Amino acid sequence: MPANTPANMPVNTPANTDSAATAPGVPHPGGPGPLAGRTVSRIGYGAMQLERLHGDRAAAVALLRRAVELGVDHVDTAQFYGDGFVNGLIREAFHPEDGVVVVSKVGADPDPGGRIPIRLAQRPEQLRASVEANLRSLGLDRIPVVNLRRADIGPGLRAEGDQLVDLDDQLAVLTAMRDEGSIGAIGLSSVTPDALRRALPVGVACVQNAYSLVSRDDEDLLSLCTSEGIAWVPYFPLGGAFPGLPKVTDEPAVQAAAKSLDRTPSQIGLAWLLRHAPNTLLIPGTADAGHLEANVAAGAVTFDDTTLAALDSVPSRPFELTFD
Ligand SMILES: NC(=O)c1ccc[n+]([C@@H]2O[C@H](COP(=O)([O-])OP(=O)(O)OC[C@H]3O[C@@H](n4cnc5c(N)ncnc54)[C@H](OP(=O)(O)O)[C@@H]3O)[C@@H](O)[C@H]2O)c1
Repeated sequence: MPANTPANMPVNTPANTDSAATAPGVPHPGGPGPLAGRTVSRIGYGAMQLERLHGDRAAAVALLRRAVELGVDHVDTAQFYGDGFVNGLIREAFHPEDGVVVVSKVGADPDPGGRIPIRLAQRPEQLRASVEANLRSLGLDRIPVVNLRRADIGPGLRAEGDQLVDLDDQLAVLTAMRDEGSIGAIGLSSVTPDALRRALPVGVACVQNAYSLVSRDDEDLLSLCTSEGIAWVPYFPLGGAFPGLPKVTDEPAVQAAAKSLDRTPSQIGLAWLLRHAPNTLLIPGTADAGHLEANVAAGAVTFDDTTLAALDSVPSRPFELTFD
């Protein structure tokens, strides 16, 4: 293992606890925002799309390095992204002095031979095993934030049978691991407002639900996060890469705004999310270096009142993901 990998980053070093996260001299794209006691750039990066670069590891590592150069210091991952491949990239690409807040998730495991390459792993002992697998593949003593990825609402896999697990039992194992020091903070993913309310007493750093300018059914959950001071980290902020999901870039009002402001439709969609709620932190996913640059630059987009009103009035369409 190289000397500068996160595995060598002792707990409580400045890289783990400092409130000024970006590399020295690099501005925060999208401005600064709080996450789990840290200050991060409001434009971060979701690493799931890097699975597609399985055949070009050097390009994937270079993309992560470019993200750091651009001021990205909040990166979302999971052990089940490429069965540890993406976590391995993060371990290789990031150094302690980069100050990147790595956020992973548990609740599903890799299933390389399966019809789809993940399976639910919601039981408390599975959550513990998944945190430990993430620690190993990321080479960390502590994961700054771990999201509990529930499966009681879509899009994606739904829990049934022994995978229907009480939230309190799951929070018990995660808070135990936080007490033990292997988790810095706990987040939730794919939850209802009721589930978030139940979890509030343990301390919730962030919530990740599927949400975008064109799919806004979770507005109540977002409001609850805002009032509780919890970071709102929408996944599929552009509509995701899966076919069939409503795409932000297909929306006529988004295309019109892009034309009038001389920006791309993706930039309009991301800038709208930043503008819509002050506690929003973005993790757009891309395997394309040019798209990464464009997404980071979305932090500079501003809207006049007319454009904002047109975007605000776009109707919401549900996310429906099938694996048939
Ligand atoms: N909590 C959860 O359960 C959960 C679930 C899913 C995802 N996530 C996280 O959320 C992150 C974001 O979601 P996502 O990656 O699925 O979807 P997304 O960010 O909504 O969209 C990704 C898609 O948009 C394209 N794209 C990105 N930037 C673009 C640009 N500037 N111009 C044109 N196309 C662009 C990407 O293609 P290119 O690669 O060609 O740019 C890719 O096809 C993931 O990476 C993952 O970390 C979490």
